[in-house]
Amino acid sequence: MVESNTYRSIFSPCSAQEQEENFESYWRFTQQHAGKLLEEDKDLTNKREKLKYFQDNPVRSRNPLPNPELFYRNYIKFKDDPQLIDRKTLLLTAIYKFARHEWVGISEAWNVIPDMAASKKLTDKISRVHLAEEFCHIRFFNEMLCIFHLDKVEWVPLGPIKQRVYRIFPRLPGALMDAPAFITELMGMTFYQHLDTLFGEILADEPEAQQRLREILHEIMVDEMAHVGQRRNFIGPVGIKLAQLMLPTIYRLFFWGIPEAKYLFNVEKMIQDGLSFDYTSVSSNLLKRSWVPSYCQIQN
Ligand SMILES: [Fe+2]
Ligand SMILES: [Fe+2]
Repeated sequence: MVESNTYRSIFSPCSAQEQEENFESYWRFTQQHAGKLLEEDKDLTNKREKLKYFQDNPVRSRNPLPNPELFYRNYIKFKDDPQLIDRKTLLLTAIYKFARHEWVGISEAWNVIPDMAASKKLTDKISRVHLAEEFCHIRFFNEMLCIFHLDKVEWVPLGPIKQRVYRIFPRLPGALMDAPAFITELMGMTFYQHLDTLFGEILADEPEAQQRLREILHEIMVDEMAHVGQRRNFIGPVGIKLAQLMLPTIYRLFFWGIPEAKYLFNVEKMIQDGLSFDYTSVSSNLLKRSWVPSYCQIQN
């Protein structure tokens, strides 16, 4: 799908004509990549098949967590001191919390945006499939937790204030919503890149589990990388400047809400990686399965 070897910043400018062409090119990509939309189930045929493969060929960690109760006590809200908890448990609570935000956000948005039958514009259709893909990610995250024998995880709403923010967000006009929506996709991508590195550090004693986690993560990253470009394509010249300005605050605020994050991740480095994102940090294996806006590629 991606034809270039060299890339430009995700914040590169583009013309209205390029935006239109890129929506068309993304739409061709996403239909072929995700498969048929199963709207009733918020699912997509190709993703469903992938999940079935992971579930039919399960991988489980060699050792259970030192104390699974610690995970269950802290995964929704941290009650203990994160500094006193082993890094494997912290890693898994952080994954859950990140995914939980995504789940709340997409659940609210799913009820607001037009369904496929009511989608008149190409961008509506793109957004519907995009959201279904995000629901598939939640199933993938759930499978990640099952690798560590955590099969009693529940997906629960956030507190009333955060829940309200996510309720209002998809109802905002595009001029207000597009830049932060793009940044949250970019934050997802940089978070997954940092997660990928952490798997190697924290799960050195669990080679099979580590490999499976990575396999699942990469399934998500291929989509997420395409979402980054797709959401960037919604934004004009003013919005892109705004997005750059608001990126550090959005990242800091988001990770401030996940108290264990600072013991696992370097959030400031994540911010730098977000600001300098231009696809060169992504492996070619993932890139060739994904989609990049034409104006972020330098044609050789
Ligand atoms: Fe996602
Ligand atoms: Fe996404």
